[in-house]
Amino acid sequence: MVGKPFSECKIGFVGGGNMSYAVAMGIVKGGAVPPEQVLVSNRSEGKLKVFQTEGMRVTLDNIDVFTTCDIIFLGVKPYVFPVVMNELRKKAPKDDFSEKIFVSLMGGKTVSDMEQALQYHTPSRSQIVRTLPNTPCLCLTGTILMTRSSDVTDEDYNMIRSALSVCASCYDLPEENFGGASAIMGCSPAYFFIAIEALADGAVMHGVPRALAIELASRATLGAGKLALEAGKHTEELKDAVASPAGSTIRGLYALEKAGFRAALIDAVHATCTPLKK
Ligand SMILES: NC(=O)c1ccc[n+]([C@@H]2O[C@H](COP(=O)([O-])OP(=O)(O)OC[C@H]3O[C@@H](n4cnc5c(N)ncnc54)[C@H](OP(=O)(O)O)[C@@H]3O)[C@@H](O)[C@H]2O)c1
Repeated sequence: MVGKPFSECKIGFVGGGNMSYAVAMGIVKGGAVPPEQVLVSNRSEGKLKVFQTEGMRVTLDNIDVFTTCDIIFLGVKPYVFPVVMNELRKKAPKDDFSEKIFVSLMGGKTVSDMEQALQYHTPSRSQIVRTLPNTPCLCLTGTILMTRSSDVTDEDYNMIRSALSVCASCYDLPEENFGGASAIMGCSPAYFFIAIEALADGAVMHGVPRALAIELASRATLGAGKLALEAGKHTEELKDAVASPAGSTIRGLYALEKAGFRAALIDAVHATCTPLKK
């Protein structure tokens, strides 16, 4: 148990890439924690500059984050996570982190995967919150799916949920629905309603209840639009920040390209602009 409010906790991020930046900026901009209480580690120095500019503390040493922070967000790629765990075991073999809470941002890593990986350093209990966030957290319109290990108390879970709610709509979800629900987190209103409907059908196919599927798809659409308006970046750059190499998004984009998604949207706009012949 952390035993203090989120705003008084030391918050750590291991891995300072796109997703960590979006969540860190979200909780800072939303007022959940002052920037000087956030410590971010990354393998290379360059990526840390944007965090530093916002008043957050930075380090090249992941162990700094593990040893000094109360709540630790894990924002590395899933395949890098074992590397980080090995490093922890080598450099801090005697440390007991059972009182700390680990918040995973990593797609595809289950609570059980995390419990196993952290077992050595959390001998008495593994406090793990698994999330699936999206990049609109950056402009406080994100969507975050959440679940937890049985060792996380209601009080601590609700504290983290409230803190994340400053930048996202948070949904508690059974783990078996994470895959299907995550697929719908990411034109003219009528076209979007069809897109929302079709995305929701896909999630229902993967076991998500229909009403929840429609709501999640709608929130993802809202957040992406706000980010495109406010980030001051080309949509291609925003898209690239979502499509991690070897990740699930790039496979989805490939499927859409093959199906002529872009051309269909251009055709739809063109058709709308072309008057009917009487
Ligand atoms: N992007 C999204 O929309 C999204 C959505 C949901 C979940 N996620 C999850 O978020 C996680 C990060 O994805 P991302 O898109 O943010 O990728 P990313 O931008 O590539 O960020 C990963 C960061 O980890 C750093 N890193 C690599 N090895 C490290 C090590 N040993 N120690 C410390 N830092 C290390 C990388 O630094 P270098 O560049 O210096 O190597 C990079 O800054 C993934 O697990 C992904 O599944 C992402």
